[in-house]
Amino acid sequence: MRSALLTFFKEITKRVLKTHISDDADWSGAGKHWHNYSSPFRPSKTDVKTYLGLAESLNEFSKVLILGSTPEIRNIFCTNEVNVVVVDSSETIYRSMLRFAKQIDLQGERFVQADWLNLNEIFAKESFDCIFGDLVLRNISGVDQHLFLSIMAGLLKRNGHFVTRIHYVNENIFKLKSNYLIQLSFDEAKCLHPLQIEDLIVSRLFDRHTDFAKKNIKRYAVETDIKEYIKNNARNIQEKTILSNVLAKWTGSSRNWTQGTQVEIDRIIDKYFIVQLKTISTDYLDSAYYPVVTLRRQANV
Ligand SMILES: C[S@@+](CC[C@H](N)C(=O)[O-])C[C@H]1O[C@@H](n2cnc3c(N)ncnc32)[C@H](O)[C@@H]1O
Repeated sequence: MRSALLTFFKEITKRVLKTHISDDADWSGAGKHWHNYSSPFRPSKTDVKTYLGLAESLNEFSKVLILGSTPEIRNIFCTNEVNVVVVDSSETIYRSMLRFAKQIDLQGERFVQADWLNLNEIFAKESFDCIFGDLVLRNISGVDQHLFLSIMAGLLKRNGHFVTRIHYVNENIFKLKSNYLIQLSFDEAKCLHPLQIEDLIVSRLFDRHTDFAKKNIKRYAVETDIKEYIKNNARNIQEKTILSNVLAKWTGSSRNWTQGTQVEIDRIIDKYFIVQLKTISTDYLDSAYYPVVTLRRQANV
């Protein structure tokens, strides 16, 4: 009862303050334990190369906006003499991510603590040559995705680019029973590092339990599937250990990312941007559902 009331008041406070920001506590966990995540949650080596490709075309007068504190992206710009602004709703995360990006010179970065959905009130129109951000769209709730993209398009100069990895829900996964999906993932990933196996399984289960109507993930169903597999289907101690780690890593986190199918996401993006390039990395399983897109703003936005 007490926790239901707390959740209720937290929700009301969020609405009254009109904040769209994801729960700071959840993300500060990621800030401390970034090394325990792999792709798809972190950009892979090839994803970083794709980001780097565009960054290299910028000159010293370029103004760049980085959404979020992703160290792999911030690292790219510490060797590039461009004007960088990093925007994150959490200063704790911004600072804690520095552990994973030691070469960043904080003097060269300007940090702004803000909600991305308020950036049109902070920066003038057409302020930036480029915007970079990893998996940012899925951190924005379904109802706000149009607003988010229109703000980003407005912040870009006429020939500016928005470079971001996006996530399409893998619809093929809906046809599979969860215990078969988990077993298949173990088999497909058997040569990989345990962390990669953990992240593959949990990201597939998140897709499997996406509630398209409510635009969220049925987190309880993900947990139930994992517990059920540990109890009835695990084939060896390694499978049990990996799944117990997944539970420890994600239980208690209320991260409830919004995702859509490829058709849905492409339709929203097309309203504001032209997709100039879509790059699919080949260095992690399921990368086909996480392309890096280079977007150019539509002329009429
Ligand atoms: C850039 S995203 C990285 C995505 C992550 N790799 C994933 O798996 O979804 C995470 C960061 O964005 C920040 N963030 C999320 N929503 C935000 C918002 N609406 N405004 C500002 N920062 C936000 C969080 O504080 C966090 O540091």
